[in-house]
Amino acid sequence: MAGLNIFWVVFLMIQQTFFSKANSTESLVATLYVFGDSSVDAGNNNNINKFAKANRYPYGIDFNNKSTGRFTNGKTFADIIAINLGLPLPPPYLGVSESERYKVATGFNYASRACGIVNDTRNGDCLSLDKQVKYFNSTVTNDLQKHFQSKEEVPHHLSESLYLLSIGSCDYALNYFRRTTYKDKTPIEFVDYLLENLVSKLKELYNMGARKFVVAVAG
Ligand SMILES: *[C@@H]1O[C@H](CO)[C@@H](O)[C@H](O)[C@H]1NC(C)=O
Ligand SMILES: *[C@@H]1O[C@H](CO)[C@@H](O)[C@H](O)[C@H]1NC(C)=O
Ligand SMILES: *[C@@H]1O[C@H](CO)[C@@H](O)[C@H](O)[C@H]1NC(C)=O
Repeated sequence: MAGLNIFWVVFLMIQQTFFSKANSTESLVATLYVFGDSSVDAGNNNNINKFAKANRYPYGIDFNNKSTGRFTNGKTFADIIAINLGLPLPPPYLGVSESERYKVATGFNYASRACGIVNDTRNGDCLSLDKQVKYFNSTVTNDLQKHFQSKEEVPHHLSESLYLLSIGSCDYALNYFRRTTYKDKTPIEFVDYLLENLVSKLKELYNMGARKFVVAVAG
């Protein structure tokens, strides 16, 4: 079991590249899209009338003493990355009304506490990675097309954006360790299953035009 407790972070892109550039006048990355769980949720769950919200004091005591839906007193590491890149904090997707979303071209945050890589981790209570990627598909298909004048600008924007994923711990805490759905899988088999599902979502993002990834998988 010891292996399961290891927190491993896979950096597919080295952040240094982005940070060093952020100090010059123009950031290499124009936009930050965030996917994941409570480690980076910036308020999506506040808009879901279900489980796991951070909409009350003392959440946010170090964020202008205002609870934002982040599961922390201050900023998430996705916020800190955005700040270091010189970008605005990506708003929670569900916190922006449908008719206003096309105006946002500096990235969205789709992360949602309690959900995970696989569909059945707290299914229905939060946004699974599958759902988050579907929302991103809608951003690409509906909103970015509306935002940019020419069609060529959208793929350019997508390839110049950074995609941050921080996800996986709820697949253990709220799913695997409950020993219901996956009781026949060994820990190693479950890891393989998670990675297989994660890779398939990364491929979907890639097929939509994403190229620069930072992936943090917790287990
Ligand atoms: C922070 O907000 C809480 C709840 O709204 C309030 O009770 C408290 O006085 C505030 N603290 C400061 C330092 O403003
Ligand atoms: C997850 O749910 C979506 C939507 O219902 C479905 O298309 C997809 O195949 C599911 N993924 C898995 C691995 O079951
Ligand atoms: C969005 O999803 C639809 C349905 O799965 C798919 O046909 C379409 O190609 C996707 N959009 C993009 C931009 O990949």
